[in-house]
Amino acid sequence: MISRKTYVFVVIFAVASVSITTNYLLSDASTDITVMVKAKSTNASGDQRDQTREETENRTSKVDIDLTDSSIGRNRSSVYESKNNSYTKILKTPKSQVAPHSDPSVKTILIWTLYNTPTMRRDRAIPNFGLDVFGKRKCRHSNCKLTFDRSKLAEADFLLFYNNEPPEWPKIRYVWQSYIHIIKERPGRWHNFLKYYDSRINLRMNYRHDSDIRLYSHGSFKLNTPLKESYQPVWPLSEKRKSIVGMISNCGAQSKRNIYIEELAKYIDVDVYGKCGTLNCPIGRNNTIQCMKRFQRVYKFYLAFENAICNDYVTEKLYYPLTYELIPIVLGGANYSREAPPHSVINTRDFDSPKALAKYLKYLSRNDEEYYSYFAWKQLYGLRSGQDIYCTLCEAMNDPVLAKKKPGNYSDWWFSGCDNNLIDRMRQKGGW
Ligand SMILES: *[C@@H]1O[C@H](CO)[C@@H](O)[C@H](O)[C@H]1NC(C)=O
Ligand SMILES: *[C@@H]1O[C@H](CO)[C@@H](O)[C@H](O)[C@H]1NC(C)=O
Ligand SMILES: *[C@@H]1O[C@H](CO)[C@@H](O)[C@H](O)[C@H]1NC(C)=O
Ligand SMILES: *[C@@H]1O[C@H](CO)[C@@H](O)[C@H](O)[C@H]1NC(C)=O
Ligand SMILES: *[C@@H]1O[C@H](CO)[C@@H](O)[C@H](O)[C@H]1NC(C)=O
Ligand SMILES: *[C@@H]1O[C@H](CO)[C@@H](O)[C@H](O)[C@H]1NC(C)=O
Ligand SMILES: *[C@@H]1O[C@H](CO)[C@@H](O)[C@H](O)[C@H]1NC(C)=O
Repeated sequence: MISRKTYVFVVIFAVASVSITTNYLLSDASTDITVMVKAKSTNASGDQRDQTREETENRTSKVDIDLTDSSIGRNRSSVYESKNNSYTKILKTPKSQVAPHSDPSVKTILIWTLYNTPTMRRDRAIPNFGLDVFGKRKCRHSNCKLTFDRSKLAEADFLLFYNNEPPEWPKIRYVWQSYIHIIKERPGRWHNFLKYYDSRINLRMNYRHDSDIRLYSHGSFKLNTPLKESYQPVWPLSEKRKSIVGMISNCGAQSKRNIYIEELAKYIDVDVYGKCGTLNCPIGRNNTIQCMKRFQRVYKFYLAFENAICNDYVTEKLYYPLTYELIPIVLGGANYSREAPPHSVINTRDFDSPKALAKYLKYLSRNDEEYYSYFAWKQLYGLRSGQDIYCTLCEAMNDPVLAKKKPGNYSDWWFSGCDNNLIDRMRQKGGW
């Protein structure tokens, strides 16, 4: 029976020696690889302490041992982290700080876990994909290469992670590598896995304006050049015989939007489609478009109530009505002056109560000029459905500030910035 101390020690050595695959290594660096090792060691009296050491790689030793020992890793400050028996090494290679490309001006991104969009799924199926994808797209920068081939690990400047659980980390992390994590959702309880990304991810790519690389997965707007003709209403207000429509399928949403909607429905007619309502619009993007086309003839306003109140968070619930002749009524954590064109939405936060909002909506309903003033922006601005993710990545990889960014705080940052007590506060303040 080996003592606890010996056991832990053996683990350290075992970790330091697992799965170095020689062809990943640079020839000029292979002699002076050092590995940072951090582990807890327990001495005979049962006291624990952390140990950090730099060790020279001993590539001859192979010790068969249980790597599930929880005393190593799962700690923000750990260099090693255990997850499903896999460990990452951070290799220091003093002779080289850059990836071994033939052309150092080319940035290579390895998609380690697939960003699950139709475009990327399709692209992955193309053999030797990635060499000229950036040039073809007329991106602002096109000196980027993309690969899905994990055997090209050493050549990658950037690794892209997209997933909802801790990934199988690369066994080796070279010093020249920057990790990017991409996420489309807003914070939810199911994101606790992001703590495994702390101290690993250099660049956070998501909807937040304070993320490192901004993702516009639902839409954005831009100035029309040249300007369009002034907007001519298509659907007469007199024929829009109903007031408000919404499509809602998550009934117990964290934002508590249902409370607001119930109160609003006491003062003005509200039709709710989807699982949380009595009406049904078949699910699927094309069907949604068909429904929106129908809605704009019959309804005046559209409920763009988000399922959570988080900074900067808006979804297609905002961009769908803006595409048609419907005024969005918004409830969300975003600054709508930034996410939507000027004078294009009605914000619940501007009203003391649902009753006051209903009063204003009824006023607009009787006033063509006021009602259609909410569409005047269409002369000045156009909507974009999303962004070219490849161009965005290549631009980011060329940004000298982003290139220097160290891995850091991720999960705390991610979970900050949501405020799902907004409705409670609105009720308290407005006395409803
Ligand atoms: C165990 O470690 C603690 C703290 O590091 C130390 O005070 C103690 O003397 C050690 N015990 C033995 C038996 O080495
Ligand atoms: C490397 O590991 C082998 C096997 O465990 C051992 O015999 C050898 O002494 C080690 N070499 C060094 C330099 O630590
Ligand atoms: C991580 O390590 C620090 C410093 O050694 C320690 O105080 C902390 O409790 C550890 N956290 C976890 C979750 O193990
Ligand atoms: C853990 O590893 C085993 C064997 O490599 C694999 O079959 C399993 O899917 C992994 N589990 C997770 C959660 O990654
Ligand atoms: C949706 O509409 C587009 C454009 O009309 C069409 O190309 C596509 O095949 C349709 N998709 C489905 C699932 O019907
Ligand atoms: C909201 O965005 C607008 C336009 O970008 C900006 O002028 C304003 O200061 C922002 N408001 C807040 C509270 O951040
Ligand atoms: C991480 O970020 C959050 C939110 O920005 C902040 O509250 C927290 O203090 C940060 N933690 C560390 C260790 O920097």
